[in-house]
Amino acid sequence: MDFNNSIDFSHKKSFQKFLASSITIGGKEVKNRLFLAPMAGLGHVAFRELISQFGGFGLLFTGMCSAKALPQENRNISAVFKWRDEELEYLVCQIFGSEPKSMALAAKRIEKEGFFGVDLNFGCCAAAICKKGAGAALLKEPNLAKDIVKAVRDAVSITVFVKFRSGWDSDPLSAAIDSAKMAEAFEKAGADALVYHPRVAPDRRLRPPKWEHIKLIKDIVSIPVFGNGNIFEPLDCQKMLKESGCDGISIGRMAVAKPWIFSSIAGNSLAEYENIYHHTATCMLNLLLKHYEERLAVKMFKKFVPYYAAGFKFGHSISKQLLRADRASEIKQVIDAIFKEPFEQPEAIDRPNLHLLL
Ligand SMILES: Cc1cc2nc3c(=O)[nH]c(=O)nc-3n(C[C@H](O)[C@H](O)[C@H](O)COP(=O)(O)O)c2cc1C
Repeated sequence: MDFNNSIDFSHKKSFQKFLASSITIGGKEVKNRLFLAPMAGLGHVAFRELISQFGGFGLLFTGMCSAKALPQENRNISAVFKWRDEELEYLVCQIFGSEPKSMALAAKRIEKEGFFGVDLNFGCCAAAICKKGAGAALLKEPNLAKDIVKAVRDAVSITVFVKFRSGWDSDPLSAAIDSAKMAEAFEKAGADALVYHPRVAPDRRLRPPKWEHIKLIKDIVSIPVFGNGNIFEPLDCQKMLKESGCDGISIGRMAVAKPWIFSSIAGNSLAEYENIYHHTATCMLNLLLKHYEERLAVKMFKKFVPYYAAGFKFGHSISKQLLRADRASEIKQVIDAIFKEPFEQPEAIDRPNLHLLL
């Protein structure tokens, strides 16, 4: 389906309407074109429950799970391979690994559990992952990467996604040209959709992604291509769609900072939330306490703090106060003190403080 080429995205309503429209991926309908990007340490069951309450997305992706460990994982014990049954219909499990066989076995387990799909991580450039030959290291081994896609495709009938980025060439354009060749190979090997983050490895979000390079991928394959990287406000989506012609958008960090972003891009009203910042921080903590024991919940909450703080003028001070608390009850008091009337409200800023988001 290529109808996005004929849409004039200069009108605000047209890009919102496009993103809110359904798309068929691997023969299955997805109700809109906005995804939660996979984020290790953040994209867990508690955060996904919060996002699900706001709505406005098509699919949610888990943080990366080790393909080797996954066949033995117990959802009642694992912090990562853990889900609510209600979310399975829109949940994709991401795996990392470097062997076709173990990736295929992990995908089989994911299919057996009833997930919407499986996502292959060919983009993570963290040293611990690349050292094992997984994540973005696979972009240096195009044949192995293609064999992994093929092995997973042959093993399951659920939807297969590949998330990848520009490769290891320091010149972004030639890296993107290489990525386009890989995209073609992934499609031939049986991938149903691609999510592309147009940044070279190991550039860790320091330079802005080259959205125009998503077009190189879009033009070479006929499966849906989703763009990713630096969407901070709804109008960024309009720009990415215009520059790349992509079929939809995957959002990471901004969904952590503002989990209502999908709903607001979809044009839904948020009027029912009197104080959305207070609501979000409180719900996140409560949901973490629902799914994890207190010590772990507090540790996990602290990973969200820089993202919340990034949305305010004096974010560093917000961050400091929240990070100082050690018990859930203390964190609740601090959240109330910062965000709840009758205290003076912190000043929100439109674009986040990137120093806090990196
Ligand atoms: C804390 C954190 C963890 C991440 N973990 C993963 C991961 O497990 N798998 C993956 O493919 N990408 C991972 N990413 C990359 C994101 O999916 C996304 O590509 C990147 O953040 C750029 O998108 P954004 O600008 O919308 O955040 C992670 C990013 C962050 C900030």
